[in-house]
Amino acid sequence: MSETIYDIAIIGAGPGGYHAAIRAAQFGATVALIEKQNLGGTCLNWGCIPTKALYASAHLIEKIREAEKFGIKISDFKINFAKAVERKNEIVKELVAGIDQLEKGWKNAVFMGHGKILSGNDNDGFDISIEGKNNAKIKAKRVIIATGSTPALIPAFNIDHKRILTSDDILHPDFKTVPKSLLIIGAGVIGCEFANIFATFGSKVTMLEFLPSPIATEEPMIVKELVKKLESTGIKILVNQNVLSVVNTGSGVKATTCDASIPRDKVDSAPKSTFDAEICLVSIGRARESKNIGLEPLKIETDRGAIKINTKTCETAVKGVYAIGDVAASGAPMLAHVASYMGDVAVANALASLGDFSVKSRETNYNVIPATIFTSPNIGSVGIRRSQAKEKGIEVLMGMFPYESLGKAKCMGEEEGFIMILADKDTHKIVGASCIGTEAPELISELSLAMQHNMTVHDVAETIHSHPTISEMVLEGAEAVVGKAIHKKGRPILEH
Ligand code: FAD
Ligand code: NAI
Repeated sequence: MSETIYDIAIIGAGPGGYHAAIRAAQFGATVALIEKQNLGGTCLNWGCIPTKALYASAHLIEKIREAEKFGIKISDFKINFAKAVERKNEIVKELVAGIDQLEKGWKNAVFMGHGKILSGNDNDGFDISIEGKNNAKIKAKRVIIATGSTPALIPAFNIDHKRILTSDDILHPDFKTVPKSLLIIGAGVIGCEFANIFATFGSKVTMLEFLPSPIATEEPMIVKELVKKLESTGIKILVNQNVLSVVNTGSGVKATTCDASIPRDKVDSAPKSTFDAEICLVSIGRARESKNIGLEPLKIETDRGAIKINTKTCETAVKGVYAIGDVAASGAPMLAHVASYMGDVAVANALASLGDFSVKSRETNYNVIPATIFTSPNIGSVGIRRSQAKEKGIEVLMGMFPYESLGKAKCMGEEEGFIMILADKDTHKIVGASCIGTEAPELISELSLAMQHNMTVHDVAETIHSHPTISEMVLEGAEAVVGKAIHKKGRPILEH
């Protein structure tokens, strides 16, 4: 029997890899998808989906606690975290099974095992070994590396997966007890999402952040609003904390810190603070999964673990080998939708280079990447922040609109937060937007579409928005940029 030569082999089946595999099959390519752990990758198993399932339980608790103001008295409700975790596990299981069905439906060959490129080139194809549940050697004309990332580990933090945990540990299907107290190192996206979840479930949460602000990538006004809410629920957020060590004391954890401004050589003699808790979560970023996948013999370079690529085409220095998602040095944030988008671009370029498929080569465009944070309230943002506009020399107009002035938000009892929209001062084109409040991630989608199509605030404001809806936040926010918001007194009208 002749050896199958796949058009594309994809290593890693996260939202980058599994999505790329389906896209390639849609164009008629034969595909081998290689996964060493679970289909769906970080996103479905240890990331986006399990956190949002737990967030949904936490949000419901929050709503129940407010029930009386809606005219409902719930005098005795019990929180069952184990049940919430089982619901989360079930959602993950169903979605992972769904991916399996989809890959099978497209007749993609799924290999469960560790994939490694052995040798090859774009003329003769690439040899790939698979070791694990399936052991095989396969050949493919093109390769997409989509091996993603794992939690970053620092030796001083002594992560023992018992009391000192990563997000993978805390999302483990068997992690079913709410810690009485939780110390979170790193107040980035993961830290804030878990702080919100566990504080709502009853943990006493303390966060230690190295920088002067949590989630430093968001607009300072948005962060201020988030901090206000998180602190109102009893979460302690300590910034400028250089965490020197974390130890498992047997009955809990102890972290030692000093002020982050103290130079390294003065740390020993600097005043220290200590923090105790039952459990510690370390969420200080992600490490790229680029070891032992065959990069060295092919001379594919990495930069601090990230695979160097042509950021426009997603191709590595070796023709025919592409890298996408968290593992790639794309310059874009590590997000599921970025991984899938890069998958589309890599597939288009890989198949276009083979010439047998009706698909054109493509280039990435990272100007419009929406990002969302599922705390309470939710956060959504797209495009540039005010500080970036200043750095780039773009003069902007800003429009703000608060949820408390919106009829639908009042009806829903969701009056916290605001939207802010930035537009170029001369053209009135939307260049960025940030929102904190209910459905913020959904609102940002409309503004992403507007930005993708170079729209002005007038284009958005002149679009009829259904009433009463939360989407009117976008309408009024866009109107506010040019002094036209009806339900808020603002600047005089600026015509275009
Ligand atoms: P991954 O999802 O990491 O998938 C890579 C896959 O490759 C894994 O399944 C791995 O097992 C496999 N693999 C690795 N090496 C090999 C090998 N040699 N052979 C075979 N298989 C291999 N992003 C969002 O957009 N929204 C969110 O709400 C969100 N929430 C998150 C919450 C948490 C707690 C975390 C940790 C992340 C979250 N993210 C979120 C980020 C998102 O999960 C990642 O950006 C996304 O999963 C990256 O996709 P990927 O396909 O590049 O890699
Ligand atoms: P992050 O980069 O968002 O935040 C890490 C935080 O830890 C930063 O604020 C950083 O200053 C701080 N930090 C780093 N080292 C530290 C130290 N030694 N001591 C104290 N603080 C320290 O990374 P995080 O939260 O781990 O998330 C990883 C990625 O996962 C995110 O960048 C994001 O792309 C993705 N993600 C996306 C989500 C979403 O879209 N809703 C949800 C969760 C994660």
